[in-house]
Amino acid sequence: MRTIVIKLFLCATLVNVAVADGKKVFETYCWGCHHQTAVAFGPPFSEIASKRSAEEIRAMIADPASVSKVFGYKRNAMPAFKLTPEELKEITAYILSYKPKEKSH
Ligand code: HEC
Repeated sequence: MRTIVIKLFLCATLVNVAVADGKKVFETYCWGCHHQTAVAFGPPFSEIASKRSAEEIRAMIADPASVSKVFGYKRNAMPAFKLTPEELKEITAYILSYKPKEKSH
């Protein structure tokens, strides 16, 4: 029981660290075209988080030219980014942290 509690705690801490570092990645590479909740040149992170999985977000950042077509965009305006696996994980966690809370019906 105790190890489960410790593991859960470690897991939550790691996610928070990833989100904090993801903000740096965002400010370095993405901020010119994406904002957290407002539409900029690209869609806001809150919208992306509400409709995409972590895998889809990672695929889009690594290879936007092929993934944007799958997502239904006619033209691909987003450049590809060569991020390290850590940066990719961090920015994905950061985007997903903007997922809107489920509305109760
Ligand atoms: C030069 C402008 C530009 C930059 C810089 C940019 N993007 Fe984009 N992004 C776009 C545009 C425009 C789209 C809409 C699809 C398209 O045109 O390719 C998009 C789409 C996306 C999508 C998919 C949206 C969907 O429908 O789910 C994700 C995820 C994304 N961007 C993440 C990022 C991340 C993360 C970064 C920084 C590492 C970044 N973008 C940097 C312009 C940009």
